[in-house]
Amino acid sequence: MMGRLGTVLVLDFGGQYCHLIARRVREQGVYSEIVPCDISPDDVEKMNEKFNVKGMILSGGPSSVYEEDAPKIDPKILDLGIPLLGLCYGHQLIAYILGGKVLKGTRREYGTTYITIVKPVGVLKGLGPKEKVWMSHSDTVYSLPDGFEVLAYSEACPVAAYRDVNRSIYGLQWHPEVTHTEHGVEMLRNFIFEVCGCQPGWSPSSVVEDEIRKTVGEGKAVIALSGGIDSSTAAVLAARALGKNLTAVFVDHGFMRKGEGEYVKRTFEEMGVNVLVVNAQERFMKRLKGVTDPEEKRRIIGREFIKVFEEIAEKVGSEYLIQGTIYPDRIESGFRRRSEKIKSHHNVAGLPTRIKFKAIIEPLRDLYKDEVREVARKLGLPEEIVCRQPFPGPGLAVRVVGEVTPEKVEIVRKADRIVAEEIERGGLKDELWQYFAVLTGVKSTGVKGDSRAYGDVIAVRIVESREAMTASFAKVPYEVLERISTRITNEIPEVTRVVYDITHKPPATIEWE
Ligand code: XMP
Repeated sequence: MMGRLGTVLVLDFGGQYCHLIARRVREQGVYSEIVPCDISPDDVEKMNEKFNVKGMILSGGPSSVYEEDAPKIDPKILDLGIPLLGLCYGHQLIAYILGGKVLKGTRREYGTTYITIVKPVGVLKGLGPKEKVWMSHSDTVYSLPDGFEVLAYSEACPVAAYRDVNRSIYGLQWHPEVTHTEHGVEMLRNFIFEVCGCQPGWSPSSVVEDEIRKTVGEGKAVIALSGGIDSSTAAVLAARALGKNLTAVFVDHGFMRKGEGEYVKRTFEEMGVNVLVVNAQERFMKRLKGVTDPEEKRRIIGREFIKVFEEIAEKVGSEYLIQGTIYPDRIESGFRRRSEKIKSHHNVAGLPTRIKFKAIIEPLRDLYKDEVREVARKLGLPEEIVCRQPFPGPGLAVRVVGEVTPEKVEIVRKADRIVAEEIERGGLKDELWQYFAVLTGVKSTGVKGDSRAYGDVIAVRIVESREAMTASFAKVPYEVLERISTRITNEIPEVTRVVYDITHKPPATIEWE
């Protein structure tokens, strides 16, 4: 069971630090799960059966309790007898619901603030009389519900921290989850261990081989393996549980990087995974003939991928599907879905399929990316896979602008290899999020030897990023760019010009299509 030793739920009020709260709790060895703020008391009870819920943290959020459509909680949540900690908006909301007063928007605090602790108990146990904390609010609690007492104040905030004297309910106006709050971790630890009585012991790798074995039994399972970190880790975990009853399918759509198929096959076979490489290059190329629209290209590749995969799953006779879906995938496609679609992603992890599997198993469904990396390392996956740069599902097809042909894919594949080799040779690999080449579809004049040449333009894209939501073009040394450009024009006869993409994301995306 995920939270045998106690789980802390984080009620999501839309705050930017919501994920950070869950991560901080997990870092203490206690399982944490994000749930919508309007979760019903019944649903909390249901979660309790599975997760042993020992505490709830109400996150911050951009709203004011006075806004008409401000997110609220069901007040009965407060009566469940589960310890509560309200942070920022959560702090204001609890006080407001129970009859305290919240002052609207007059005395805002933003950034580092010093608070004075008048009663170092509960969440504030063991802390000094003055603490450096991070504030970010405009509304302020200024009088408390009956039975509550002030634990700390700041210059602008008469009730910077409170507690209910009789129940385990606490509120902090500041954000203990950000590193700018000097003793934030101690505050959260106080809540998790002292107030809630959780015990440490959860770790990302206390996942699930057993669960897979129990679900699948003697049956057969299949997984789409891309060689990316998520599907790789899920495949190795599943193979350990199921042995030869797992088939890991690597669909080679023809848009892979140089040597990729062979590398994946060799690496995973060495780890005891039963790998099936499906050569489907011609099928994909045929479907893409004459197609230039990037979204249409992605859709066609996505659909064809599923078809190929389904055919194989049927042939192998698998009743179970394993997927490499991770926690952020699940949260983002669930209640936290962003409405804005920039481009459709073809993603091996969340494969929709028409086949009726007995069950779909997602062994990494509760883990963050860095936790997946930790598991991957423990499983002995090579560092090359653990730290691999992301590669889009449709592969090099979205790095050939316009219509895709085998010749163009070959050009961009060679250029991609050169970019990778030179970045690695320059020792820059670890600082970068991605580095690759794009065949721009533009033709340009050049001179090769003594004669005029009219050839392709390759764009080199090298970016730094943390989570791919934003990215900056990397300021790599000119010498490295020079080597890349010289090699590309020397080694690929079709190319006459190489340009460096100096656009951040936003406004550009990382990929060109
Ligand atoms: P963009 O181009 O939207 O890309 O800035 C953000 C990150 O996602 C990768 N990417 C994909 N990953 N399937 C994937 O699994 C896709 O279809 C896909 N398209 C882009 C991209 O390489 C970057 O890291």
